[in-house]
Order: sequence, then C-alpha cells, then structure tokens
Amino acid sequence: MPDPLPPDFRWGVATSAYQIEGATTADGRGPSIWDTFTHDGDHVADGTTGDVACDHYRRYREDVALLADLGVNAYRFSLAWPRIQPSGTGVGNPDGLAFYDRLVDSLLERGIDPVATLYHWDLPLTLQAAGGWTARETAYRFADYAAIVSAALGDRVRLWITLNEPAIHTIYGHFWGMHAPGLQLFDDPFPVAHHQLLGHGLAVAALRADSAAPVAIANNYSPAWAVGPDGERGSATDEDRAAADAYDAFHNRLYTDPLLLCRYPDGLHGFSGADRLAGENDLVRPGDLATISTWLDALGVNYYNPAGIGAPSWPGPLPYDMRLIEGFPTTYFGWPVVPDGLRDLLVSLRQRYAHVLPDMYVTESGCSYEDVPGPDGIFEDEDRIAYLSGHVDAVRAAVAAGVPVRGYFVWSLLDNFEWTEGFTKRFGLVHVDFATQRRTPKASYAWYRALIRA
Ligand code: BGC
Repeated sequence: MPDPLPPDFRWGVATSAYQIEGATTADGRGPSIWDTFTHDGDHVADGTTGDVACDHYRRYREDVALLADLGVNAYRFSLAWPRIQPSGTGVGNPDGLAFYDRLVDSLLERGIDPVATLYHWDLPLTLQAAGGWTARETAYRFADYAAIVSAALGDRVRLWITLNEPAIHTIYGHFWGMHAPGLQLFDDPFPVAHHQLLGHGLAVAALRADSAAPVAIANNYSPAWAVGPDGERGSATDEDRAAADAYDAFHNRLYTDPLLLCRYPDGLHGFSGADRLAGENDLVRPGDLATISTWLDALGVNYYNPAGIGAPSWPGPLPYDMRLIEGFPTTYFGWPVVPDGLRDLLVSLRQRYAHVLPDMYVTESGCSYEDVPGPDGIFEDEDRIAYLSGHVDAVRAAVAAGVPVRGYFVWSLLDNFEWTEGFTKRFGLVHVDFATQRRTPKASYAWYRALIRA
C-alpha cells in the first residue's frame, strides 16, 4: 500500500497565462514584457512567440472539459496582469476580468477549485518603462492589481498565489537576461528580489481585504548539490560545498527566509550588492520585512531538479559554477531526474522553518520529453509517467515523515510556450498540435486520471 495522503488532498495541474492564452491583443489586453521580448531580437530557440500559444483564451471551454475528464479537483492558472490593467495602473478592464470570471465559474461548475496565480512574469510594459521590478513603486502597483482581482474573483477563488518563482524571474530575467525583460544587473540584482517580495507582502493584505481564500506564493526550489568537476557528489571539495551554500542562499533562502523568518539569509556576501539586504537603508526600508513576512497560509513549492554546484572557475559575477550532475537519467531538457530530491527538499523545508512553516503545496512538478506518437497516433509517454510517479511517491514519503503537503500540481496540463525554448520543449499531459490546436491526451493523462481516481 502506498503511504496515505490527507483525504482532502488537492490533485491538480498548472499552467500560466502567457504560456497558453494567446490572444495577446484581444479585449483590450495591453502589451507585457514577454510580448516585446519575444518579438524583438533572437531570444527564443525556434523564433516563436506567445501570440497564439495554445489559443486557450478562445478554447478555454475545451480545456476545462479536459480538466474535468482528467478528474483533478484543483487547477492552477495565472491571470495576465496586462489583461486586467492594460497599462499597469488604473481601474480594472471589464473585458479582461470577464474572461477569468467565465473561467472560474466553469471550473466551479465542474467541481474544480480555482487556484489563481497573480503574476507569472508578464509585467505590463508600461510598468517596465517606469523601472519594472527595479522600482519600488512596482510593488505598490502589484498590490493595486491584487485588490482589483480580489474584488472581482475573491468570492470564488479557493487558493491565491501571489508570485510565481521570484527567484527565476530575478536570475533569468534580470541577471542573465535570457528571460524578459532581458536585463543584466550583475552589480545589484537585489532590488528586483526585494521589490517582488515587498509586492507579495502588500498583495497578501490586498487579497485578504476581499477574499477569505488562503494565500500562498510559489517559489522555485533547486536543492544545491556540491559536486566535483566529474559531476559526482563524492568528489566535491570544501570549496565546492561553500559555493553550494552560496547558491542555496541566492536561489532558495533569499525568497523564503524573509517570508517565514522576517530576515534575509546569511551567506550572500559573495554577491555584488547584497550588503544592501543586511540592514535598513533606501532599499530595505523600516517595516518592509514585517510586510514581507505577513502571515502566509501556504507555501508553494515548484521543484524540477537539484542544481549541481562547484567552486567558481572564473572571476564571473557569481561565486559558484553550475555543473552537470552525473549518474541520473535526464529529461529532454537535460535536467537530472531525481525524485528523492523532492522528498529531501520537503523534509528540509520542514526542518529549516519548523515552527513557522505553513501548509505546503507542490505547485509545479513535471518534465519535458520528445513525445513521438506511435503508429496509432497515441503518445505513449512512459518516461513522463515514470517521472511523475516517482515524484508523487516522494510527496507520499514526505507526508509520512510529517511534512504538511496538501496538494500536488503537475506542470503542465498542455504542451505550451516554454519561454526561451518556444514550442520545442513539451511538458503537457495533453499533446498540442500548434498548427491545428488539436489536443490529444497522452498516456500520462490516463495514468494521472487513474491515480487520482484510486
Ligand atoms: C515555470 C514554468 C516553466 C517550467 C518549466 C517553471 O520554472 O514556472 O513557467 O514552464 O518551469 O521550465
């Protein structure tokens, strides 16, 4: 018998607005940083954009039917901020709100809990022009937006998620610049992190003004594995372990310590600009940490794989090198498949944040594989089934060890626009033919349905 899960466990799938909706100019939606980023220059592997994506904005009924048939009791989606506030400020756009209104109602009609993420990286372009997340004002604009959404949907959304993965948005979007808005703030990425966290804290209060639903954030956790140059943990040196600690502070703890412990983590001294997080100043102002650590109902955990880390081999902007981890199968993305890493992560969060750790949800877990159809047109994605099955077992093991995990969301329902990879990496339980928009459930969809039923 597998380890039991709580009876009200949420089995879900997750998506995000820019990755599936398309219809980027419909009904008054304004431009976001991802619209311009995908249209300008050479940022996406296959030269595609999210202009059409899965055309979910027009086909959402079909997609809700797929959710119902799958049997999930929760669906995590994100709202496109530029649909609600086309220029990032001012009153809500009724047509934009109406779309999410219809979506939420059609989910509830089928007994599926709407889990709404406010921000999955699609900042209104006008706000970027005013500094984006480098500007403190953006945190206040985010709270205004949260208030509008809460007033419109707060009676029906069952779980709120403020931000998706502020770590990835900071590091990929504002440090390496391979994601929108394409900035390379090597000397001081920390205002971007701090202002997102501040925006989160302000949004928690704004959401609660009109909604009794619990509030969470979805963080990306990438457990730091010190490995030697051969990718093995056994050959890691003390320098590699020190580098792994630095990575852990920068990628993981930076976005959890302030939320749960009301302080920024130690271990950031190797990063340019981090001294500004150490006390109060023009960046971290009096009261900010209290706002950021406003009580959270739940913590969302997005987990894909551990990160192999070694001592820096060149005087680059970061005090660590990323190294390949050897000895594990890999996904089509090349990411190591380490289901036990999820169990260890959940248990370690429980240990680190013992008394203050709220309920947890695995808000993303999934993998990309090539997904070639068989002669009968069926996608027998056994690799994905093995991946998901291993990760569900890891959640069961964590729950058995006393970790309060309340739900698991597969990334993703549909193959979709995978950021810089365009349409070349498929994560869906449902195959999408992007030329025809035909949806075809894969074997993993049937597997997940059977798991949920059981
Ligand atoms: C993001 C998703 C993305 C997935 C796979 C997560 O970091 O939240 O938007 O598609 O990873 O790369």
